[in-house]
Amino acid sequence: MSGLLEVKGLAKHFGGLAAVKDLSFSIGKGQIAGLIGPNGAGKTTAFNTISGALTPTRGQVRFNGTDITGQRTSAIVACGLARTFQSTTTFAEESVERNIEYALLSRIRGAAPQVLMGRKTGLVSPAEVRAEIDRIIAIVDMQNWRHAIAGTLPYGLQKKLGIAIGLATQPLMLLMDEPAAGLNHEECNELTRLLRRLRDEQGLTILLVEHHMAIVMEVCERIVVLVHGEKIAEGSPDELRVNPAVIEAYLGAPEYAHA
Ligand SMILES: Nc1ncnc2c1ncn2[C@@H]1O[C@H](COP(=O)(O)OP(=O)(O)OP(=O)(O)O)[C@@H](O)[C@H]1O
Ligand SMILES: [Mg+2]
Repeated sequence: MSGLLEVKGLAKHFGGLAAVKDLSFSIGKGQIAGLIGPNGAGKTTAFNTISGALTPTRGQVRFNGTDITGQRTSAIVACGLARTFQSTTTFAEESVERNIEYALLSRIRGAAPQVLMGRKTGLVSPAEVRAEIDRIIAIVDMQNWRHAIAGTLPYGLQKKLGIAIGLATQPLMLLMDEPAAGLNHEECNELTRLLRRLRDEQGLTILLVEHHMAIVMEVCERIVVLVHGEKIAEGSPDELRVNPAVIEAYLGAPEYAHA
């Protein structure tokens, strides 16, 4: 294996519950990959153990050639692996550009944003910070919303802001937990385009947890299927569409019939 992200024998137990069991997969640089499975399959737990929010019970996670198993989230983010959350997390009372600025400044210094507010960081000039904010706002196409208060944004834009905050850490790879949840049809199309742009124009590698099968099947080149914490299949969308175990355990379920 020589992927950008390599997960080997990963397990996470909560007391007697094995939420993730012996999970191994590898994601190549520049891939858009998916991690799918029914509710409670262990997808978010897998993300949390990969991204440092939880310590794995067993197994190893390597990112860009470095063993990041059990490291702190801040150290993992510094390696270039960032995540966005199933629910959005922003400073609701602050503007879009301020939220991005906080994320940028905490990256630069690893310090509380309040400490750095309005100050020269010593590492990056205010003009450079401003240029980086502009660049990120352009990537997510939120130029018309830069002064809007985050908490008042329509839901779809709050989710885009969450992606912008992830981008502010200058990642090589983004782990995204249900970016399409709650989005309407047009917002889903826009998300699909954004994911492709992030890969094609920013060179990002993306691992997506997502229940929206149409998006997963359209945008992911490689998909890992989890059921009850176990990987039951892995392959391209075309391979998985005809995989009996996947059809039975997952895609055959009525709510995914539109896949
Ligand atoms: N902190 C925790 N303590 C105890 N059990 C947990 C904890 N977090 C998750 N679990 C359990 O682990 C299992 C996997 O949960 P997880 O949230 O990872 O699933 P998921 O695949 O992300 O589901 P969903 O699609 O609903 O988001 C579930 O049985 C859940 O109840
Ligand atoms: Mg989840």
